[in-house]
Amino acid sequence: MDVARYLVYPERWEEIPPDWEALFVRAAPLAVEIGFGNGEFLAGASQEQSDWNWVGFETSLTCVTKAGRKLARAGAEHVRLALADGRFALREIFSDESVRRVFVHFPCPWPKRSHAERRVMDEAFAQTLAAVLIPGGVFELTTDVLVYAADAATDLRAAGFDLSGPVELTTVGPGSRYEAKWRREGRRIWRLQAERGPKGSTLRVAEGTMPHVRISRLVTPDALSALVGLKETWPGGAFVVKDAYAASHGGAALLRAFATDDGFDQQYLIAVVRDGEGAMVKLDGAAVPFRTPAVKRSVAAVAAALEG
Ligand SMILES: C[S@@+](CC[C@H](N)C(=O)[O-])C[C@H]1O[C@@H](n2cnc3c(N)ncnc32)[C@H](O)[C@@H]1O
Repeated sequence: MDVARYLVYPERWEEIPPDWEALFVRAAPLAVEIGFGNGEFLAGASQEQSDWNWVGFETSLTCVTKAGRKLARAGAEHVRLALADGRFALREIFSDESVRRVFVHFPCPWPKRSHAERRVMDEAFAQTLAAVLIPGGVFELTTDVLVYAADAATDLRAAGFDLSGPVELTTVGPGSRYEAKWRREGRRIWRLQAERGPKGSTLRVAEGTMPHVRISRLVTPDALSALVGLKETWPGGAFVVKDAYAASHGGAALLRAFATDDGFDQQYLIAVVRDGEGAMVKLDGAAVPFRTPAVKRSVAAVAAALEG
């Protein structure tokens, strides 16, 4: 089954935000679903609203694969799926006033205060929505957790949205796996719709350019080992080098690194490759991250440490 035709890898794009019309090979309204699970809603909605271009984000690889299969079985066109944090992706890979609708169905509620930063819906997300939705664009939330919908309503109202709901959804909702699951258990289901008011603004941090630094000296095994534990932290960001692996021929090495930008976490590889009498420090293609400030700082810091 041709699942690959639905998949996109925005972390590899040199142009961010991309030209979505070129990517879909047609001009059409853009709709986004965050946390599409097994893809039931996307498969149905992309058939019902076949004159729209659909983009889905999921953090679970299993879900991306299952949804891709479902789309292929349904013969869906004009849908793209990405394995990415939808909060970050919505902000970074769509320009202002470019998206007609955004859907979130049954987001994980993360009720514990210590897990609250994992929730999709918060003040920053409401700001992102206010920036990327077109005038009159609508955000739609469906949930079985009324307090989640109420909190979302507070954030959206503060961002200038015009709200409808939360109201109980007694008839058919998004038709997703979690809707079926919660209806079987007899849970009540709530829908909140929010129409964009004044345009919001949001700070985008990712860039397409690949960071790389040339250093003028050869890299010794000891210098590589000394990089493990290299870290920096600053307000809103941090990185740390976790491991170093040297190739047996000595001409190349890989560093496993972790970076965070305002709670958006990434793991990736930095390559140190011999280049004449020196070396090139750059991101390795096997695990490419979004090029955020923390990622760029880590490449620069590794190069500076090796240069001595
Ligand atoms: C409870 S499930 C609901 C799935 C589907 N919407 C449904 O109704 O059946 C929540 C889904 O959101 C995904 N998810 C959680 N946080 C996410 C994020 N920041 N970006 C994208 N997906 C996310 C999870 O992997 C999970 O598949």
